[in-house]
Amino acid sequence: MTDTHAGPYIAAIDQGTTSSRCILFDHAGRAVAVDQKEHAQILPRPGWVEHDAAEIWRNVQEVVAGAMVKAGAGHDDVLAVGITNQRETTLLWDRRTGRPVHNAIVWQDTRTDALCERLGGDAGQDRFRRETGLPLAAYFAGPKIAWLLDNVAGLRERAEAGDLLFGTMDSWIVWNLTGGVNGGVHVTDVTNASRTLLMNLDDLAWNEDIAAAIGVPTRVLPEIRSSSEVYGHVAGGPLGDLLAGVPVAAALGDQQAALFGQTCFDVGEAKSTYGTGTFMLMNTGEAPIRSESGLLTTVGYRIGRADPVYALEGSIAVTGSLVQWMRDQMGLIADAAEIETLAATVADNGGAYIVPAFSGLFAPYWRSDARGVIAGLTRYVTKAHLARAVLEATAWQTREITDAMTADSGAELTALKVDGGMTANGLLMQILADVLDAPVVRPVVAETTCLGAAYAAGLAVGFWNGTEDLRANWRRDAEWTPRMDPETRAGEYRNWLKAVERTKGWLS
Ligand code: G3P
Repeated sequence: MTDTHAGPYIAAIDQGTTSSRCILFDHAGRAVAVDQKEHAQILPRPGWVEHDAAEIWRNVQEVVAGAMVKAGAGHDDVLAVGITNQRETTLLWDRRTGRPVHNAIVWQDTRTDALCERLGGDAGQDRFRRETGLPLAAYFAGPKIAWLLDNVAGLRERAEAGDLLFGTMDSWIVWNLTGGVNGGVHVTDVTNASRTLLMNLDDLAWNEDIAAAIGVPTRVLPEIRSSSEVYGHVAGGPLGDLLAGVPVAAALGDQQAALFGQTCFDVGEAKSTYGTGTFMLMNTGEAPIRSESGLLTTVGYRIGRADPVYALEGSIAVTGSLVQWMRDQMGLIADAAEIETLAATVADNGGAYIVPAFSGLFAPYWRSDARGVIAGLTRYVTKAHLARAVLEATAWQTREITDAMTADSGAELTALKVDGGMTANGLLMQILADVLDAPVVRPVVAETTCLGAAYAAGLAVGFWNGTEDLRANWRRDAEWTPRMDPETRAGEYRNWLKAVERTKGWLS
């Protein structure tokens, strides 16, 4: 008889903006099995985006079971579970019934714009920046909690009575995995907490004054823990047979998980993840750097009791979702991959630039009054030129972030580690190297978000011994080097910045 023992593996759950997935990783950091399921995007009004958290929890259970079946893995093959998640997406649920009291408000949702402006008052966007590292913007969780409490009948009273729990998706999943109404642990990790506008960067504790100013009762908030430690164990329930007793041992926001999965452990190392949006994070070491250039200061990770590691982040709201828009709303391509073949039929953008400020502009501008533009249109422009402009939009937005990183950190970009779905697009990667004037490097394991969560969970249970073990797993798959002449680059950048200017003040 053959040995049917499949593991040992670490299971990573990635609860993302458009889908949930589970990947099992072996000790070499190889993805052994993947299962994935999309969930509905609920768009009740322009600018509003919601998710059904009950659907998400069902999907998470399905994909964990699915990945285990695909790997032929049984209960004893999985040593730990790590979680990574779309950040900032805000949920309140009833601690006694376990039911969400409203759809989750997604990070892209702009309904708290006016609230943020009011909260800023005379101090403006930077009112809480020194403590939290963040500008007051609709992107972050704290004001979304306040919106729910003030706009859904009865919620504020229930929150003040201690009946409601707040969480980003990490908290929701950990609570459910560890027993839910039957003793689930209510925790979040430092990276997710650093996206609420409610946590001090320096002591990694909730800031009661800011919570009071925003209107969030602290009793709804989870306990803040490190990104890599055993929070609890999988309880009974639907996943009980498969994983009962397995430690739940990591949680990191997805972009921080990708930083970890790309093994950016040294100061100055940076990664950029190309998904729905794009998020570049640079490791800045054990002291937070306050940005002067429109970047966010955030926690990169904290492994157990070790000192936290901070990062500067450039967040771009719309990159991959611009390709989806071209497919779903414009009907100019049939599937996402076609953007590359269509764009490759022309040598340049024909003079057209698309700035996808669908939810305002994120870094480095933080303008909620911005809306998208297509600039430079002439009769000459074809849909192929627009496809090219779509790819260039991702590249130029990245360039603005790398310029800001250089300004804040004083370090020139020597190479950029990339990952995420859009990095399968070779033409985009070439354009990126061209506009950054720096090499772009993609690792063999492109699933760095899940890998980072698996690494953090594996470290917590001794599956890997330390970061050197993890570095040894990183392998280069492909590299693109710059080919654009400096004059073209400078001219195109000027045009791009002109187009960006036209998005501003649209709502005023
Ligand atoms: O901050 C939002 C980010 O965490 C979402 O990432 O990959 O789910 O679009 P993604």
